[in-house]
Amino acid sequence: MKVTWRSPSNIALIKYWGKYGRQLPRNASISFTLQNAYTETSLDWNDKEDDGKIELEFEFEGREMPNFCQKIKTYLAGITDRLPFLTAYKLNISSWNSFPHSAGIASSASSMSALALCLCSMDESLNGKISEESFYHKASDIARLGSGSASRSVFSQMALWGETKLDLNASNEFAIPYGDKVHEVFHGFHDDILMVSKSEKSVSSTAGHALMDSNPFSELRYKQAHNNLQRLLLALKSGDLKTFGQIVEQEALQLHALMMTSTPSYVLMEGNTIELIKRLQAWRQMSGVPMFFTLDAGPNLHLLYPHSVKNEAKKFIERELVAFCERGEYLEDMVGLGPIKVT
Ligand code: DP6
Repeated sequence: MKVTWRSPSNIALIKYWGKYGRQLPRNASISFTLQNAYTETSLDWNDKEDDGKIELEFEFEGREMPNFCQKIKTYLAGITDRLPFLTAYKLNISSWNSFPHSAGIASSASSMSALALCLCSMDESLNGKISEESFYHKASDIARLGSGSASRSVFSQMALWGETKLDLNASNEFAIPYGDKVHEVFHGFHDDILMVSKSEKSVSSTAGHALMDSNPFSELRYKQAHNNLQRLLLALKSGDLKTFGQIVEQEALQLHALMMTSTPSYVLMEGNTIELIKRLQAWRQMSGVPMFFTLDAGPNLHLLYPHSVKNEAKKFIERELVAFCERGEYLEDMVGLGPIKVT
């Protein structure tokens, strides 16, 4: 028996930074689901004696990766409370990314969500179909246990993850779809990723989250994340691009300010990250084109803009920004329709 899912990466607008317990977020976050940056994962399984152990073969882009394999084994052993049948089968997983591994794109969101979707399809084929809503909630929950941000990748266009009184359906355990609650200007929104550096990050996100527990600004941050989410949801509904941009840029810089104020402190932005931010802001001031930036936990700049300004945006990127990217490279992406089951 075999199943294959293709699942995208996502970019957070309100950032998840700080967690507790079993992968539960300290604040609610919301993201755009991307289209072009995705992981495709296949899972097949064969009977074995249920000895309570995970048996796994794993390949990434045609190569056995013992480190990855061990990580996934540990993850699978940790979710047998959700999927108890996993120890009764020999599992074979193979996976590839649509983007280069060294591109500095958050690959845990796409890879863990693709794997979670495969596991949920396996569950359905062994135990019978469940409603579509329950299927995606379960996939989001299982993805979250692998990587928090992966919980948001299973939905089309936008997803909201984390309890908040701003949406009574929101949960810490799984994300919920948010795309149909936003103004049409955000449909097909662009996200071009300027590759400032492709080197591996010096501090992983998981380590960064842990440092929030002792960060002197953490409580203030969680309050501000809530206020920013409240204002952003209104801007998303009304199509208010100016407020959208102000909040999203503040979230990106605040994420990096939290890294700088952790103990030990660290900096993931590069000189060119700042140069690009300044050039973008100066051009926006002059041209009035609504193009904004965000960052994830790394130096690469995500440029967010509506489809209606695509031509001006591309010209500006080519003319003024690519010179500050490693080997002049950037990736063009946009808000996408979420995962697909590949038959
Ligand atoms: C800055 O989801 O990568 O991208 O749960 O430890 O796997 P783990 O962390 P991860 O953290 C993502 C942090 C972020 C912001 C975000 O995506 O919300």
